[in-house]
Amino acid sequence: MLRSRSRTFPLYSYDYDSDYPPEGKALKAAIAAADAILFVTPEYNRSIPGALKNAIDWASRPWGTNSFTNKPSAVIGASPGAIGTAVAQQSLRSVLSYCNSPQMNAPEAYVKFSPEIFGNDGEVIDSGTEEFLRRFMEEYRDHVVRVLTVLPPRT
Ligand SMILES: Cc1cc2nc3c(=O)[nH]c(=O)nc-3n(C[C@H](O)[C@H](O)[C@H](O)COP(=O)(O)O)c2cc1C
Repeated sequence: MLRSRSRTFPLYSYDYDSDYPPEGKALKAAIAAADAILFVTPEYNRSIPGALKNAIDWASRPWGTNSFTNKPSAVIGASPGAIGTAVAQQSLRSVLSYCNSPQMNAPEAYVKFSPEIFGNDGEVIDSGTEEFLRRFMEEYRDHVVRVLTVLPPRT
């Protein structure tokens, strides 16, 4: 699992392209080693957090080495707000489209982060939500297998 490490990541600039820093190289290597990416995002001001966008910008460059090309992905998120990151997810989907990642279109998953659904330790305690998330992950697995069958990773 990759967590955004905004404290160590400078803001991306193409001035870095000629001498990519270790953080950028490490992020690209981690994505290259993964079969697929499941983006789990909060919602900040009806979009994705700036730290996540910055990480995507780093991984998409230097020009010609976009880490998301043909890399299967899906998007999910949870927030205390009533629409459960729906707007942030649409924003993220737009970015991933431009980055040429074959995304899972459906199902969508907008999860409300409430005490009735999540216990104190963050585990899902609502059985309906648990079943929904299980089906989401099954669909995600099928999507990844389909994409990798048609677009096998380069070795
Ligand atoms: C700057 C900021 C903006 C936020 N904007 C939204 C928002 O647009 N919609 C929403 O549902 N929650 C919003 N929230 C609440 C976050 O969803 C909630 O704080 C979440 O737990 C943040 O997750 P994180 O701690 O992993 O960043 C916002 C929180 C912050 C700090």
